Amino acid sequence: MAEEAVLGFLEHNEQIGDSGEFALEKGISHEEIVNVIKSLNGFRFVDAQDIKKERWQLTAEGKTYAATGSPEFQLFMAIPPEGISRVELQKKLGDSVFKIGCQQAIKNKWVEMGKAQVSRKVAHVDDNVKALLIKINDGEALNQEDIDALKRRKLISPQIWKGYSVKKGPNYAPKRRKPATDLTRENLQSGEWKELQFKEYNFLAKGFPVEGGCLHPLLKVRRQMQMIFLQMGFEEMPTNNYVESSFWNFDALFQPQQHPARDSHDTFFLREPSTTKILPEDYVERVKRIHESGGHGSRGYGYDWKREEANKNLLRTHTTAVSSRMLYALAKKPFEAKRYYSIDRVFRNEAVDRTHLAEFHQIEGLICDRGLSLGDLQGVLHDFFSRLGMSKLRFKPAYNPYTEPSMEIFGYHEGLKKWVEVGNSGMFRPEMLLPMGLPEDVTVIAWGLSLERPTMILYGIDNIRDLFGHKVDLGLIKSNPICRIGL
Ligand code: PHE
Repeated sequence: MAEEAVLGFLEHNEQIGDSGEFALEKGISHEEIVNVIKSLNGFRFVDAQDIKKERWQLTAEGKTYAATGSPEFQLFMAIPPEGISRVELQKKLGDSVFKIGCQQAIKNKWVEMGKAQVSRKVAHVDDNVKALLIKINDGEALNQEDIDALKRRKLISPQIWKGYSVKKGPNYAPKRRKPATDLTRENLQSGEWKELQFKEYNFLAKGFPVEGGCLHPLLKVRRQMQMIFLQMGFEEMPTNNYVESSFWNFDALFQPQQHPARDSHDTFFLREPSTTKILPEDYVERVKRIHESGGHGSRGYGYDWKREEANKNLLRTHTTAVSSRMLYALAKKPFEAKRYYSIDRVFRNEAVDRTHLAEFHQIEGLICDRGLSLGDLQGVLHDFFSRLGMSKLRFKPAYNPYTEPSMEIFGYHEGLKKWVEVGNSGMFRPEMLLPMGLPEDVTVIAWGLSLERPTMILYGIDNIRDLFGHKVDLGLIKSNPICRIGL
C-alpha cells in the first residue's frame, strides 16, 4: 500500500516534498513509507534526498506535566482562598511537586510564602507550561523564548527527525513488478518467461561460508611426512601402543637401568598395571648379559641388571621402542633389508612451557641393511629433508645410549634465514642389534624428529600450547591454508 501510494503520487506530481507530511496525509506510518522509499531508491525507481529536521520532544517529566499540569499550577490550585500551612501543602502535593511548584509560583508572583503560611497573591492563573507542552507534542511550532524556557527546565529535548524528499528516478514506473530470480519449469511451460523481468545476478555477493570438517595442522604435516616416507619406499610401523614396558623402551635399546631418563622425573610410569607379564625370555637373558658383562666385543656396563626394573610399565618416551620391537621381529626371520617409519605420540614427564609439552609426536625413520655406513645415513637424511624444502644440512656429534655414532641434525631454514635443529640420528649399536639375533654385517641407520617443531615453523606458531592441547583456538584449525610449501 505504501509503495502504491508513493509511485501513484509521483505519477501525477513532480515530487513528494516531505515524507513525514506525506505519511501523515496518507495515514500510513512514516517508518513504512521510509522503508518503501529506500527500496525504490535502491532500484532507481525514485530519487530520494535526505531531509533532517530538529524537532522537540517531551522528556518523561514533560510528559507528566502535559498530562497532570505543571507543578506551579498544581500548587496554586491546592491553596484554598484562606491560605494553607506549608506543612499541609507539602503533604498534599508530595515533595517534588511542592519543591518545584514553590520555585516557579514565587517566580511568577502567584503566591505569598510566609514563614508558616502560604497564600494566593492573585485570584486566577493559567497553566501556560502545560499548554506549551501539549503544543509541542502535537508538532506545533513555538517561539524561541518558550522553547528556551522549557529546555532550561528539561521538559523538552531535541530530536533529529529524518525523512526524504522524493522524485521520479531513471527507472520510474507507476507500478513495480517484482523481478523473477529463477527461471522455473512452470514459467517455461506456461510461456510466462517471455514476459518476465529477471533479476540481475550479483556476482559480487559473498557466498555462504562453507561449513565442513577441517584438518588440524599437525595432521596435515603428518600427512606430508607420510607421503615423503612412502615415496622413499618406507613401510609404516605399528605404533598403536602408548603403554610399553621399560624393557622395550629402554633395556632393549642398551639404555642402562640407572640412566637418568629412566627416573620417574622424566618418565610416566604406570600404577595399574604396573608391570608387564610377557617378555621373550631368551632375548631378555641376552639383553641382561650385554648390559652386565657385554659380549660381541663390548665390555657392557658392568652392573647388576634387574628384571623388576625391565618389567615396569610406562608411557613410551620415544617411538624407538617400537623400532626395537620391529627389529627383534625382523631378526627372527631370514634377513631381509627394510625401511621402516612411524609418526605417533610419545610422553615425557616434563615441565610444560612454550616449547615443551608432556606429550608430543615423534617422526622416526630407520633403514636396516647389510653394510650401511654413516655416509648412507647422511645421504638418506639429505634426501629426506630436501623433500621438506631443506637442502642444506649440518651434523653435530651427539650421544644416545643406543646409537654410535650419533648426530644432531641442523637444517638451514630459507624462510627464517638461520640454522635450526631439526632432529637426532645415529647408527644403532651392535649391543642393541646383536642380542636380537640380527646378522653381524647388518647395520641400522635411524633418525627421529618431533612433528610439532616443523609444524610450528611452517605455521608460524611460537607457543606449542597454541598448536596442541585444550587452549587451541578452533579458528586456527578452520582458517589455516590448505597447503604450504617448504619446511
Ligand atoms: N629416540 C630419539 C629421541 O627420542 C630419536 C632417535 C631415533 C635418535 C633414532 C637416533 C635414532 O630423540
